[in-house]
Amino acid sequence: MIKNILLLVAILAVLRSNAQTSVPGQSMRELIKENFVLADSQYRYMMSLTPADQMPQSFEEKNNKFIAKEITWWCSGFYPGTLWYIYEQTHDEAIKKEAERSLQVIEPNQTYTGNHDLGFMMYCSFGNAYRITNNEKYKDIIFRSAQSLSTRYRPSIKAIQSWNKNQYFNCPVIIDNMMNLEMLCWVSTNGGDKKYEDIAIAHANTTIKNHFRPDYSSYHVVDYDLQTGMVIRKATWQGAANCSPWARGQAWGLYGYTMMYRFTKNKMYLNQAKNIAKFILHNPNLPADKIPYWDFEAPLIPFAKRDASAAAIIASALLELCRYANPVEKKEYLSAAEVILRSLSNDTYRAKAGENGGFILKHSTGAYPFNSEIDVPLVYADYYFLEALKRYKDWYL
Ligand code: GLY
Repeated sequence: MIKNILLLVAILAVLRSNAQTSVPGQSMRELIKENFVLADSQYRYMMSLTPADQMPQSFEEKNNKFIAKEITWWCSGFYPGTLWYIYEQTHDEAIKKEAERSLQVIEPNQTYTGNHDLGFMMYCSFGNAYRITNNEKYKDIIFRSAQSLSTRYRPSIKAIQSWNKNQYFNCPVIIDNMMNLEMLCWVSTNGGDKKYEDIAIAHANTTIKNHFRPDYSSYHVVDYDLQTGMVIRKATWQGAANCSPWARGQAWGLYGYTMMYRFTKNKMYLNQAKNIAKFILHNPNLPADKIPYWDFEAPLIPFAKRDASAAAIIASALLELCRYANPVEKKEYLSAAEVILRSLSNDTYRAKAGENGGFILKHSTGAYPFNSEIDVPLVYADYYFLEALKRYKDWYL
């Protein structure tokens, strides 16, 4: 009996992992349009739930509870950024007004130096706002944020310190930190001091040296001794084990090195990105719908929880990597990104209008080992999903 139930559950898991399209035969053009129409109505709904001084984080379906967090939380820039992506496609003035309001709320972060997340917080938000509006005030805020982030650069280890010293780590640097380099490179290439890009390059080089395993998967955390500059240990925080490939960490690395190649044209970064893509796309534990389990070596695969946020980040990164790839690689990356976008657009992963606290996607996993944010909507999954859809529309339609 138990054997039969397990068999049935396994069959259901495989069927779910093979579901690929929301509407069979739907063109990417239609799929992208449909997603932005839904995003507009979902975020109009989310606006009504968002407290005046906080930013949306997630939604607990069981308790019908919308969750928002203080502005120094690492994700505070994703709500404004998502609103800008929606406004850019729909020209909905209500969405623009909320995007401007939410920027004002997080503006004080420009002088925040408490962690390494300023790039996520201030570039995903003000970066998109400036790109769309050309408002110089936004540019000034991005410049000031880059200065704040640069205070966390530690010359003795040639890297930006991610978190402050704590009971577990001395000077932790996490793979996620690759994402914050975009703001530094952007400032240097848009009239700012060259020192920011130098810091980004130093950090990216140190990360290549110390974060990666021979198969191009990455450790989550590398802890350094600031006096000697030596690595103390390599570990995880949100992954299944110190040596396991935490899915979102692989996504951050892929996106980070692709972006570093965009700014520097250094082939070492391009090769790194291609090798990370190979690790992800050829991994035997990547399901057919290409939405990764929360860790590529999570216990209980194929029953382990998925991470839609990792999938969205991977799709967005692959769409950029296509631009720097040879025709064979391009075909592989583009097709994988399309599978991800179609999977995320099906009823398994995408919410119906008026549900899910206004979030677009379901089934992301934040920090499994801490029993936190498991199988829930997360604001950054929506952000990178819309970014990927925009990239597909701009570059491949
Ligand atoms: N620390 C950022 C993340 O959870 O991916």
